[in-house]
Amino acid sequence: MLSPRLVDRVSRALRPDARITVMTGAGVSAASGVPTFRGPDGLWKDVRVQDLASPEAFARNPRLVWDWYEWRRQLIAACVPNAAHDVLASWALRFPRFTLITQNVDGLHERAGSPGVLRLHGSIWEVGCWNACAGAPHRWRDESVPFPVLPPPCPHCGGPLRPGVVWFGEVLEADVFERCLQACHCDVFLTVGTSAVVYPAAGLVDVARRQGAITVEVNPEATAASTAVDVVLADRAETALSALDEALGAP
Ligand code: OAD
Repeated sequence: MLSPRLVDRVSRALRPDARITVMTGAGVSAASGVPTFRGPDGLWKDVRVQDLASPEAFARNPRLVWDWYEWRRQLIAACVPNAAHDVLASWALRFPRFTLITQNVDGLHERAGSPGVLRLHGSIWEVGCWNACAGAPHRWRDESVPFPVLPPPCPHCGGPLRPGVVWFGEVLEADVFERCLQACHCDVFLTVGTSAVVYPAAGLVDVARRQGAITVEVNPEATAASTAVDVVLADRAETALSALDEALGAP
C-alpha cells in the first residue's frame, strides 16, 4: 500500500529543474503482460540462463536460442505500453534534465514515446552478425515477426544473425554504460521494477546515492536495494508512478 506521506516526499524532490534519473527493470512491463525473469512466474524459473542467454548457448545451439527469442518477440509484439511507461514518457517532456535508463529489451519505453532511452541490455528488436563480419554494422533494427527462417541469415555474409541483446558473460556497450554513469550525477534517482541483482546495472543506484542523490525504489516486493535507498514506494510501477505524477499536478 502506497504511503501518501512518501509520495508527497518524493514528488517534492521532483522539482522542475531537478536532475532526475530513472532506471527500470522487467517489473515496469509486467502490467503490459511481459513476463519478468525472477519470482514465481519468472522466465528463469523454467529455463536456465546459461542455456538460452549466453554466447556459449548460442554457439552450442543457435536454433534453440532463437526459438526462445522468437517466442519472446511474438509475445512482446502483442503487448502495449502501460501507465508506468506513459508517465515516464511524459516526464521526459516535463523535466528538461531527465534521463531514462532501462534494463529491458522489449522496446515498450520507446513505443510509449520516451526519447533517448539508455538501453543497458540492448534490444530484442535489434540483431547483429554472430560472426561480426566486416560488411555488417555492429547492430541494426529488424522487427520481422516471425523471421522466415531461424536463425535468420546475415544479409552481408550469410552466417547466422544473433539477437541484439547483452547476454550473460558479455560486457555492456561502453558508451551506453558511460552515459548511465554520467546520469548518476543527479538529484533524484528512481529504481523501478527491478530485483537489483544483475550488475553492473544494480550498482547504479549506489553510485547515485554516494554522489548525493535522493534514491527511491518502486517495487511491490522488497529487493536487494530496499535497505540502501532513501525511500521505498512499495507498490507496482503503474500505480506508484501514476500517484507521483498526480501529486506533481499539471506541468
Ligand atoms: P527481475 O525479474 O529480476 O525482477 C523484476 C522485479 O519487478 C521484481 O523485483 C518484482 O518484484 C518487480 N515487479 C513485478 N511486478 C511489478 C510491477 N507491476 N511494478 C513494479 N515492479 C514489479 O527483472 P530485472 O531486475 O529487470 O538481463 O532483471 C535484470 C536482468 O536480469 C534483466 O535485464 C535480464 C535478466 O536476466 C539480461 O537480459 C541481460
